[in-house]
Amino acid sequence: MKTAGQYEVLARTCHLSALLRGRIRPDRLCLHKTLLPVEGAAAEHPAGGRDGLNQWLANRIAEKRPKRVLDLGCGFGATLFALAHRMEGEFVGLTQSAFLVKTAASLAEKEGRASELTFHEGEFALLTSLGSFDAMVAVESISYFDELPEAARLLAEALRPEGSLWIVDDWLRKPLPDEHADVRGLCESWGRRRLHTVEELEAAFAGKGFQLVENRDLTAQVPAFRASASPRSGWLRLAARRLPGWQLRSLAAAYLGGRHLDRLYAASLMEYRCFHYVLP
Ligand SMILES: C[S@@+](CC[C@H](N)C(=O)[O-])C[C@H]1O[C@@H](n2cnc3c(N)ncnc32)[C@H](O)[C@@H]1O
Repeated sequence: MKTAGQYEVLARTCHLSALLRGRIRPDRLCLHKTLLPVEGAAAEHPAGGRDGLNQWLANRIAEKRPKRVLDLGCGFGATLFALAHRMEGEFVGLTQSAFLVKTAASLAEKEGRASELTFHEGEFALLTSLGSFDAMVAVESISYFDELPEAARLLAEALRPEGSLWIVDDWLRKPLPDEHADVRGLCESWGRRRLHTVEELEAAFAGKGFQLVENRDLTAQVPAFRASASPRSGWLRLAARRLPGWQLRSLAAAYLGGRHLDRLYAASLMEYRCFHYVLP
């Protein structure tokens, strides 16, 4: 299954659901997990809720006042909007879905920021044609790379000296066989070739000269990690195979992949981590 087509359908569903809940705004259009709050560690961890992670990242990225910022796999651009509300600069988003790009661009237009916030439709490799950046952020997108050394190479080429990189994503705590039911289910549902471990990420980025500033474990804020029971997925599996039309099957598969991911969190096999790197 192609990830681009799946994101096209998922984005439209998310947009419709935001519309039904009220006015369309960037902070209502996040395609990453909604985190739970943590007690007593306010600045060190994101606040809970739909937009907490974006606000937390934006605060941190803005500290160095980067002039040009990339969001790799930007979704509707919610992280970039949060940043653009804090500081002036040039904010560039890259994602595969035409609908995501069109919606993000129209939100920027409505805010009168179309010259600051631009969005591009294309695969990760398009990054080589977007120029260089002082900071980069990738929320739940780096894990879509088949090979992490390729991700590190692409990002290293586009990041300016002394630039910062922020990666937030799901990582296997330790290697699991491809035949593991939830690994296989997640990969089949989301069109991924494999899942990556924390160690693989660290080795790939260290190998391209990135220096680690911070590795923050946000797993305790993932709802599925704290859930008391693993979610069931039988009817979603049936829907992903049997519903009429590829769009409905693709949407069911998107949710089915989420169930497999939740089961990996519930079994303590997955970690949600934020890595902050600099490239000297
Ligand atoms: C889980 S969503 C996260 C979106 C956004 N970062 C957020 O937090 O709301 C993953 C994003 O990565 C993008 N993506 C996945 N694989 C990609 C690829 N091969 N090339 C470009 N974008 C990709 C998707 O289109 C989507 O925008």
